[in-house]
Amino acid sequence: MPNDSVILGIESSCDDTAAAVIANGKALSSEMASQRIHARFGGVVPELASRAHQRRIVPVVRAALRKANVAPSDLAAVAVTRGPGLAGSLLVGLGFARAYAFGLGIPAMGINHLEGHVFSACIGQELPKSPWLCLIVSGGHTQLALVEDGLTLRPLGTTRDDAAGEAFDKVARLLDLGYPGGPAIDRLAAQGDPNFHAFPRARLAGYDFSFSGLKTSVLYYLNGLGDEKRAALMQRRLPDLCAAFQEAVVDMLIDALERAMTETGVREVHIVGGVSANARLRQRAKTLGETCGVRIRMPQPAYCMDNAAMIAFAAHVRLAAGQTDALDHPVMEPNLALGTFA
Ligand code: KG4
Ligand code: ZN
Repeated sequence: MPNDSVILGIESSCDDTAAAVIANGKALSSEMASQRIHARFGGVVPELASRAHQRRIVPVVRAALRKANVAPSDLAAVAVTRGPGLAGSLLVGLGFARAYAFGLGIPAMGINHLEGHVFSACIGQELPKSPWLCLIVSGGHTQLALVEDGLTLRPLGTTRDDAAGEAFDKVARLLDLGYPGGPAIDRLAAQGDPNFHAFPRARLAGYDFSFSGLKTSVLYYLNGLGDEKRAALMQRRLPDLCAAFQEAVVDMLIDALERAMTETGVREVHIVGGVSANARLRQRAKTLGETCGVRIRMPQPAYCMDNAAMIAFAAHVRLAAGQTDALDHPVMEPNLALGTFA
């Protein structure tokens, strides 16, 4: 299969049904149907997610092909997320991709969702020179990895409890800001004072993270105010509270990155996943890069969140590295780890 093959990507690991077409490493389309149904439950309901994927997958794939001006017969492969993720959600994408590829007589390539995120800041661009560092910060994962040579990903640290995005979502829930909470906290924090309150920053051995203590301390802080003061704070100081919480998360992430940059001596760092859309994190990362003379790359906003272009692009990277056969006939793996060949 040539490197410039046209690849259809499919992503359905959580609550977004996404399809994209890439050719020669460039995205021709990236379509997405988000499932608003979960907002009223304050988190993703797996059973509802898989049902919604089933309704949406065909229209989303059609839209991605139409937008890219590509016919099914132009496709060289179908790349699909095989894990990690929700079993029922993954099955819809995998079942569709395998059947679609089978019908067209082309390979279906199984892609690790985390590997998709790892390469998401490179879509349409050149790959970094190895070694480089990648920090994945999403609703389900917080992981720091060293990309040692080409495709070898060495996990350096992970969260011991909540993921960074999960912390945003849980704190947003305490503050009645809806789900997902990251974008709402980001927006409010832009007008707030990060020094309003000093929430604790966990610093663990190595590059592991912990966010549950921070979430609990926001809860204790709110409970400690009593009803009247709490109502007043929610009315007048909500942006300050959001800014103070957000600053603690960003401090922990930037601190780990700074240490890892110094200790590994890498010259390039990528920050990816839903939380990489956060304005304060992007600003602090940019400053860190300028101070240390290290190139920092973060995905375009559309590629921070779960999307199918990153899945198709990860397949393109593997094809470009000459890996083809082992990727065919993907099976679902809800607990797939970073660095596992998929
Ligand atoms: O990567 P993603 O779309 O899905 C997972 O793989 O988990 O990430 C979703 C997460 C949610 O927790 C959401 O609250 C968070 O990313 N998020 C943000 C922002 N936008 C999305 N967190 C902080 N600031 C944002 N601007
Ligand atoms: Zn993700």
